[in-house]
Amino acid sequence: MPLNIIVGAQWGDEGKGRVVDLLAGEADIVARYSGGDNAGHTVTVGEDIFKLHLLPSGIVHPHIVGLLGNGMVINPATLLEEIEQVREAGVSVNPDRVKISSAAHLITPGHRALDGARERARGDAKIGTTGRGIGPAYTSKVNRSGLRTELMLVDGALSQALADHLKEVNYQLEVVYREEPLDDQKIIRDFQGYAEQLRPYLSETGAYAEKALAEGKMILAEGAQGTLLDLDHGTYPYVTSSTPTAPGALVGLGLGIGSADRVIGVVKAFQTRVGEGPFPTELEGDLATRLRGTGQNQWDEFGTTTGRPRRVGWLDIVLLRYAIRVNGITEIALTKLDILSGFDQLKLCTAYQIGEEIHQRLPMGPGNLGGMRAIYEELPGWEEDLTSTRQWADFPEAARGYVKALESLLGVPVTIISVGPERSQVIQR
Ligand code: IMP
Repeated sequence: MPLNIIVGAQWGDEGKGRVVDLLAGEADIVARYSGGDNAGHTVTVGEDIFKLHLLPSGIVHPHIVGLLGNGMVINPATLLEEIEQVREAGVSVNPDRVKISSAAHLITPGHRALDGARERARGDAKIGTTGRGIGPAYTSKVNRSGLRTELMLVDGALSQALADHLKEVNYQLEVVYREEPLDDQKIIRDFQGYAEQLRPYLSETGAYAEKALAEGKMILAEGAQGTLLDLDHGTYPYVTSSTPTAPGALVGLGLGIGSADRVIGVVKAFQTRVGEGPFPTELEGDLATRLRGTGQNQWDEFGTTTGRPRRVGWLDIVLLRYAIRVNGITEIALTKLDILSGFDQLKLCTAYQIGEEIHQRLPMGPGNLGGMRAIYEELPGWEEDLTSTRQWADFPEAARGYVKALESLLGVPVTIISVGPERSQVIQR
C-alpha cells in the first residue's frame, strides 16, 4: 500500500513541487491534503514554468490523477483560473484526471476580506498572511459554519449557505472592523457559475484513494507550507491555519493510520521564511542577499504567491530534529545545494543557548523561540558550481561533507539532492 508523503520540513518553500515532480513518474495519484491557494508550487518542465496554487503539481504528468483532499480550503475562482492556465499550456484537465473532495471547504471573497481586515486590525502584531482567506475559511470550518464543496451538489443549498455566511461576514466587516460590506448578490451569482463548472469534479475522494491503494497504486501526498507553519506544531501564532505535517495527510485525505510507508522531508540547504515570526538563524546584509538572490531568477527567494522577499538564514538542525519527530520523516530530499557554492564557510545551528543552558532539542517547542541564541558549527565551504553535477561521487569533498554532517546530526539519510530548477538537476542516492 504505497502512500508516500512529501512534507516541508521548514517554513514552506522548500521545493516540494520539485520532489513531487521527480517522483511522479512512479506514482498514479498526486494528492494535496491541506491548505489552499496560499501555497505556490513552481514546477519547471522544459521551457514551461508552472506556478500552481491548488492543483497538485503532479498534474503536469499526463498519467497522474490529481486529488484535492478534504483537508483543503479551495477558492473556486482561483481553481478555475488555474485549470484554464494549465489547459492553455496543453495539460488536460477533466473529471477523470482531477478529483475534488466533496468535504473540502470553500474560500469565499468574505473569507479573503476578513483575512485582510484582521491583519490590518492587528497592526504591528500582524501574522503576515498571504491574504488568501485561509485563516477565516478554517475558522468557519471549526466553527461549523463553513461551506463544504458538497453544497454545490444540491440545488439552492449553496446560495442559502452563502447568504447566511455573507450576512455574518458583512456584520463583522462593518461593525467590528469598520470596513465596507461585500455585494452578497454578486458573490452568490458568481458562485452559482463556479458550481456549474466544478460539480462534475466532486466526489468522496477518500474512498477513491483507499481503492487505489488496495489495487497497489501509488499515491504521493503533496504537502503544502511546512512543519513550522503547522497550526499545532509550528511557531504559533505565526503559522497557517491547517495541518501541513505528515499526519495531516491521513486526516486530509480520509485514510487511516498505517496507510503511509514513506515520509520524505524536503529540506532546503538553508533556511527561509515569509511573513512574521521568530527565526533564530536569520541573516541580514551581504550574506542574506547572496542566499536570497536578486529576484531576477525564478528560483530566487521571493514568494511564489505574494512576490515578497523571503527572510533567509543558516540551516537550523534543532528545528529539523523537531520536524523529523512530528512528521515521522524517514528520509530527506535536500534542495538548492547549488546555492551554497562560493561561501568560505557554512554554518549549521546545532544548539540553542538560553541563559547559561545549551539545548540540542527544543526545550519548549517552536512557539517559544524568543530569547534563544543560535549556537553554530562551522563547516568548510566549496567554490565549485554544482549545477551540472549528476553523481554523488562528483561533488566536491566539502559539499559531500555538508550532506554527511546533516545525516549524522539528524539520523536520517539524504536520498535526493537537487542542484538547480531543471528536472535533470537532481541526484538520487
Ligand atoms: P496564511 O496561510 O495565508 O494564513 O499565512 C500564514 C503564514 O504562513 C504567513 O507567515 C505566510 O507567509 C505563511 N505561508 C502560507 N503559505 C505559505 C507557503 O506556501 N509558503 C511559505 N509560507 C507560507
